[in-house]
Amino acid sequence: MTNQLKQTIKDMVVVGKGILAADESAKTAAKRLASINIESTEETRRQYRNLILTAPGMEEYICGVILFEETLHQKSDSGILFPELLEKNGIVPGIKVDDGLADLEGHPGEQYTKGIETLGKKLEEYKKSKPGFAKWRAVYSISENAPSDMLIKRNAGDLARYAKICQEHSIVPIVEPEVLIDGNHSIETCYKITEKVQKAVFDALKHECVMLEYTILKPSMVISGKQAANRANVDEVARQTIKCLKANVPAELPSINFLSGGQTSQEATAHLNRMHTLGEELPWYVSFSYGRALQDSALKAWHGKKENVEAGQNAFLKRAMLNSLATKGEYSEDMEKD
Ligand code: 13P
Repeated sequence: MTNQLKQTIKDMVVVGKGILAADESAKTAAKRLASINIESTEETRRQYRNLILTAPGMEEYICGVILFEETLHQKSDSGILFPELLEKNGIVPGIKVDDGLADLEGHPGEQYTKGIETLGKKLEEYKKSKPGFAKWRAVYSISENAPSDMLIKRNAGDLARYAKICQEHSIVPIVEPEVLIDGNHSIETCYKITEKVQKAVFDALKHECVMLEYTILKPSMVISGKQAANRANVDEVARQTIKCLKANVPAELPSINFLSGGQTSQEATAHLNRMHTLGEELPWYVSFSYGRALQDSALKAWHGKKENVEAGQNAFLKRAMLNSLATKGEYSEDMEKD
């Protein structure tokens, strides 16, 4: 069991590479496609996945892709199942395994993540597609009364149980506690909440005896709320994020791969890059697992048109390349120009 986990970590913790989150649920994919006036059908979703997952040479920057269940069974234009295509290109396929969000009773505005009861059965099914890793996302909104201690405890417990079950199935768990960017809170408030959340998650992982050396953390950055006045700058976000991680994340963990969580593509790259130029020694590999920040520009360039497929792929590859440079602290803003 541990041999397989060890191999997956080896394949996914590679300097200059990161993870692509292409696991939008059908509902979220519909939102993304609607932004370019495309109706979401099984076929348009397949075309969109095809554009991204067949981008030539993406394996230079991407070592793993998180897929949504539907994509496991879809084929590329050349007729290869997407997980097989990724594997053939030296990219580890992974799978989102949670069942999305539901309201937390008695806590208006707060949501927990569904699916823990059926997870074992689901993993048995998914194993036919040979995913190397899985992802479970828990979210925390920030407001006067949120996140509640109840939600922090519940999410931590479920993330830990999920991670344990994955490892029992030789699947590396990506543990994703996302403190949401929505709101007008300050970076200091975000720090306090993120710290509380991360502490609870690592206590729960320890309690469940999850093997941290075969676990990947996918956190949000410590950042000002999207609607906050005087938002913290790139340097401050990088410093506060690294400070929080150093205080709460054990060194045995091999890799931290951030989500972009509503940052612009350029912000997400600049923040990651700055973390690598602070001169701080980092005990883990620090990289990306972006969804929107890797795909937004591709979606816009494509616009659902056959003749734009290459332009869409080039836009995606450019973001992947810039984020790859950011994992080495080698990105600069002037590279944004064409
Ligand atoms: P974003 O980078 O768009 O936040 O997506 C990452 C992800 O996997 C959210 O669950």
